[in-house]
Amino acid sequence: MSAVVMDGKGLAEKVKAQIREKVSKMRRQPGLAVILVGADPASQVYVRNKEKDCEECGIQCYDYRLPQDTTQEEVLALVTKMNNCDAVDGILVQLPLPSQINERVVLEAIAPEKDVDAFHPENVGRIMQGQAYYKPCTPAGVMEMLHEYGIDPAGKHCVVVGRSNIVGKPTAMLLLHENATVTICHSKTPDLKAHCCQADILVCAVGKQGLITADMVKPGAVVVDVAMNRNEMGKLCGDVEFAPVCEVASYITPVPGGVGPMTRAMLMENTYQASQRRNSK
Ligand code: GUN
Repeated sequence: MSAVVMDGKGLAEKVKAQIREKVSKMRRQPGLAVILVGADPASQVYVRNKEKDCEECGIQCYDYRLPQDTTQEEVLALVTKMNNCDAVDGILVQLPLPSQINERVVLEAIAPEKDVDAFHPENVGRIMQGQAYYKPCTPAGVMEMLHEYGIDPAGKHCVVVGRSNIVGKPTAMLLLHENATVTICHSKTPDLKAHCCQADILVCAVGKQGLITADMVKPGAVVVDVAMNRNEMGKLCGDVEFAPVCEVASYITPVPGGVGPMTRAMLMENTYQASQRRNSK
């Protein structure tokens, strides 16, 4: 068997084109404030990509680059200003923040209706209850991709490897809301292979190159690789051994070109949704 490779890049382009079309009909351009503290190279790339996505979608990006030694009070003052700014519909504070700043305090300061990352505890609680204003971008991207390829999680056994607040936990919840039976595995799970082998849909979000080998995948399973690692050659790769797993799985996401571009497209969708919500008030 050779798995269908799910084209996250192509689907993200389609989603962004749809957003651009919807935005072009709006009287007021949606606005996204992006706050980056410090000069972490990976974060700089992420932020640059977000700015590019905004431009493609017709969303106004308000870019704030603050120095590494910015205090928590200064970040909180900017967040408050963005909360009160009429032109701004969504606020994204790029993580990680420098060590002098408490991430939790900053994320909780973002107005929940402008929290397009869906990291605020109110939005996390809403996700638990199936009442989310916004779905967190990476889990939402995973679900969009499954839908696009006609993969219905209902009645399936989904195994999510990784329990982060950003990916593992919310992805498990979105799958549950679509009637999957969900197992969450993590670093303390004994016999990870035994669990993975049970999965009809296997989602891996750990950040460990080569973690998922072909003998851990049930024949015909759907494999979603959320991780972004760098291999010995400095090339991007996921947690899944791609070529061997292709021989076992029915569908698989590549890295790069799978979940990553979908995450970015979902941020644009959330920003569009945020502006719609505010306009309709
Ligand atoms: N850093 C890595 N991923 C993310 C993300 O999805 N949102 C934010 N705000 N920061 C991140």
